[in-house]
Amino acid sequence: MTNTLRQAQIEFGDFQTPLELAKRVCQKLNELGVSPVTVIEPTCGVGAFVEASATTFPNAKKIIGVEVNKVYLDELENRKKRFVQSERINLMQGDFFDFKWKSLFDDEGSLLIIGNFPWVTNSQQGAIGGANLPTKINFQNHNGFDAMTGKSNFDISEWMLIQAANWMRNRHGYLAMLVKTSVARKFLRHLHSEKIGVLRSVIYSIDAKYYFDVSVEACLLFCEFDVESHNYDYDIYESLDATKSQRVGHRNGITVRDLNTFERLSKYYGRSKTKWRSGIKHDCSDVMEFQKMGESYMNGLGETVEIESTYLYPLLKGSDVANNRINKTNRYTLVTQKAVGEPTSAIKKLAPKTWDYLESHAKYLNERKSRIYQDNPQFSIFGVGSYTFAPYKIAICGLYKKLAFQLIRQIEDKPVVFDDTVYFLSFNTEQEANKIFSILSSPLARDFYSALIFWDEKRPIKSSVLNSLNLQQFESTQVLRLF
Ligand SMILES: C[S@@+](CC[C@H](N)C(=O)[O-])C[C@H]1O[C@@H](n2cnc3c(N)ncnc32)[C@H](O)[C@@H]1O
Repeated sequence: MTNTLRQAQIEFGDFQTPLELAKRVCQKLNELGVSPVTVIEPTCGVGAFVEASATTFPNAKKIIGVEVNKVYLDELENRKKRFVQSERINLMQGDFFDFKWKSLFDDEGSLLIIGNFPWVTNSQQGAIGGANLPTKINFQNHNGFDAMTGKSNFDISEWMLIQAANWMRNRHGYLAMLVKTSVARKFLRHLHSEKIGVLRSVIYSIDAKYYFDVSVEACLLFCEFDVESHNYDYDIYESLDATKSQRVGHRNGITVRDLNTFERLSKYYGRSKTKWRSGIKHDCSDVMEFQKMGESYMNGLGETVEIESTYLYPLLKGSDVANNRINKTNRYTLVTQKAVGEPTSAIKKLAPKTWDYLESHAKYLNERKSRIYQDNPQFSIFGVGSYTFAPYKIAICGLYKKLAFQLIRQIEDKPVVFDDTVYFLSFNTEQEANKIFSILSSPLARDFYSALIFWDEKRPIKSSVLNSLNLQQFESTQVLRLF
């Protein structure tokens, strides 16, 4: 493929569905009792779903395909003559983002929105200078500008799915889309939070490597919309042929991957006295992190630096925590505050070399983009409080696909700090830390957390998940006696 073609493929998220898969999807819809009067394929490409729908839904009165790419549309226009009852098929060139969709939904009767939206995120488009984006949007509280500048990343398909759900707000209809599984879950969460009428939803995993030659978790997302119904639990099947499913749902603001286990262990759900925190955020590791080289320190800019150890704390990164490298380190972080918002001017007196270092590197720190730095003392950091300086911690890295807690003690008589990929609990006594570590390592806690974690996510372990286990509940049960 030439570079230009590849760029166009990325901008338009262009992965045409093989006819074999489109047919299998339509057959699945048949099995689910779907019998639409109108079928719409909003980004129809060369038309695998238009063709499969024509074959599978003989009772459909209209089959409409919309596509932005004229070459695809012309090709489909030529082929469609061979499709079953081809006079029902109406093809239109249009851009999803400014197409007048409402005009297509005037008819009574069941509507099926089917297809495979573009597979691309706004920031991938930003990287190639693509412009295939909605122009004026306020998407999930991200404003259009953030979306355009790539500040917040979202899948174009998620935005399209939400539009399709809006079409269904006041009518009966079906949605059947091939999408990334993470997008499907976010969308189903959106239906729940917006209370959009849904009768049933299902996710069927598909083998994206086999059908599209891409390594991504993808699925067929199926929803039946119905104004009167509000059923937001859904089933996940491992394939279109699987007969066993897992029930997923939304409880107390979190998405539960395994409702059966969660319900069995529901008495452990709740807030603990202590809260999981995330590591320090300073957004400038080149200046704020050091490696010890003999008696001096080297920063991320490669400069050898002479500063006091007063404000330096041993640092364990997420990868250290995940790989059990927790007893020593040669990395240090400059921790300029004991609490968020604390004035930093005291550093000048207590550690003059550190202050000079910060001043001479102020340009890097002042360039930190987030607005939070602008409203706080110079050289501020975030994610600090008394919990940062406690001597014992239990930590886990949010990015790794394993539930491995670590009990961490001081290093060189100083409390250990973490980067912001790590979540931790802090303790003043080793005894208390040991007790909670035993609870977290128990099969019960593991089962509880496993019921809430989606391992295909970029950051599968989240503070909302960790904080949903009530550790005190264990103290009043038998579990502790096992240890
Ligand atoms: C992942 S492909 C799938 C094509 C087709 N739905 C299928 O299942 O084979 C996405 C399609 O969306 C089209 N597309 C991308 N951006 C679009 C837009 N803004 N409006 C309409 N179609 C668009 C692409 O040209 C491409 O054909």
